[in-house]
Amino acid sequence: MNRASQLQAPSEYPQSALPAGVQRLARPKALARATQLAFLRFEKVDLDEARRFWTDFGLVTVRHDTDELVMRGADASPALLIARRAAQPRFAGAAFLVPPDTDFERLQQESGGRPLAADDIPGGGRGLCLVDPDGNEVWLITDWSSIAPLPLRAALPAGENVLGRRARVNATVRSPIEPAAIGRLGHVVLQTPDFATMAAWYMRHIGIIPTDVQYLEDGSPMLTFFRLDLGATPADHHTVVIVGGLESRYEHSAWEVLDLDALGQGQQVMHAAGHAHLWGIGRHVLGSQLFDYWKDADGFEFEHYTDGDVFTAERETHYVPFATGSIWAWGDDAPPSMFPRKSFAMLLRAWRLVRAGKLTWARLRMVGKALDSPARPWL
Ligand SMILES: [Fe+2]
Repeated sequence: MNRASQLQAPSEYPQSALPAGVQRLARPKALARATQLAFLRFEKVDLDEARRFWTDFGLVTVRHDTDELVMRGADASPALLIARRAAQPRFAGAAFLVPPDTDFERLQQESGGRPLAADDIPGGGRGLCLVDPDGNEVWLITDWSSIAPLPLRAALPAGENVLGRRARVNATVRSPIEPAAIGRLGHVVLQTPDFATMAAWYMRHIGIIPTDVQYLEDGSPMLTFFRLDLGATPADHHTVVIVGGLESRYEHSAWEVLDLDALGQGQQVMHAAGHAHLWGIGRHVLGSQLFDYWKDADGFEFEHYTDGDVFTAERETHYVPFATGSIWAWGDDAPPSMFPRKSFAMLLRAWRLVRAGKLTWARLRMVGKALDSPARPWL
C-alpha cells in the first residue's frame, strides 16, 4: 500500500474484531422500530423567507398560511418539513413512521409523552409525541396517509461512461438548470453533551442500528451513524446521527436528490438565488454520499446528497477512530465553521459540563486533539 492510500483509508474494525480498548456500543432492546424518517419540524420567525430557501432547495409547498408552512418532496409522503411561526427560530424535532402494531401504551408508560391525533399530523394518522433526553420532540406516527408522487425527470446520465464500460452511446448529458428536486428526507444529525444517554434513548425508542461508531483515543464512543432496522430491506447507512459535543443542537439534515447532475444544477440555482453555500460538492467517507451543504437565513444547515451506501440489518457494526479525515474523501476542505471554535463561550460551556459531571477535561482534550489533526495531511 502506498502512502496516499494509507492516509485516505481510515481504519475500520467490525465489532467481532475490535482492537483492545475499544468499547462496544451496547444496544438496548428496542420498544419500537422506525421504518422511515417522516418529517422535520422547525419554528421560524419569517415563514416567507423560510419558504423561499426551501423552495430553491427543492421542496414543494403543500400549505402556507400565516402560522404554518408544510412542504413535501417528490415521494409519496404528505409532508417532509413543517414550520410554525414563532418568536425565535428553533428546531422542534423529527417524526418517524412506526408500524401500526407499535405498543404506544408501553412506550407512554415507560417514557411519558403526549398522544398525537390525526389533526396534529400533516397527512393524518395517530401516534405519540415523546421528548428525548435533550428536549427535542420525537413524534412516532402510524397510519400516515400517502399522496401521489411528483413526476421526476429520468435519472441522468442513463448509465455512466467509465473507463472500460460505455453505457451511454449516441446520447448526451444535458441536465436542466432547476432546483434539485428533493426525492426524500434522508437523515438528521443531532449534537448532544451526553452522547451515551442520547444514543441509548434513540436505540431504545426507534430501534436504530449502529452502522459506524466513531471512538476517541481512550476507546469510548463519540459519534455514531445509525440506520433503520428494516430487516432484509436495504436501509440508508444513516438516518440518525448522534454526535457528542458541548451543546444540544440540530446539526444538519440531509435530503436525497435524484442524481449527481441534480446536485450540481441545484447548486447553481441556490447560488443564483443568493443563498449561503457551506460545503461541497464532495464525497463523504462514512456513508459515501456525494454531498453539497447550504445554510438558511437562521444558520440551520441542510445537505443535498445522492449515491449513499445502503445496508441490510444483518451487516455488522463497524468502529472507526474519530477524526476529521473520516468525514470526506474528496472535495474542498470542510469549512472551519463546521467545527467548534475555541472561544471563551466554548470554555465556559465546557466548564459547566465538567462541573455537572457530564464531561471530563481529559475527554475534551481527546476531542480537541482529534479535531486539530489535519484531515488530509498529504496536502
Ligand atoms: Fe449528512
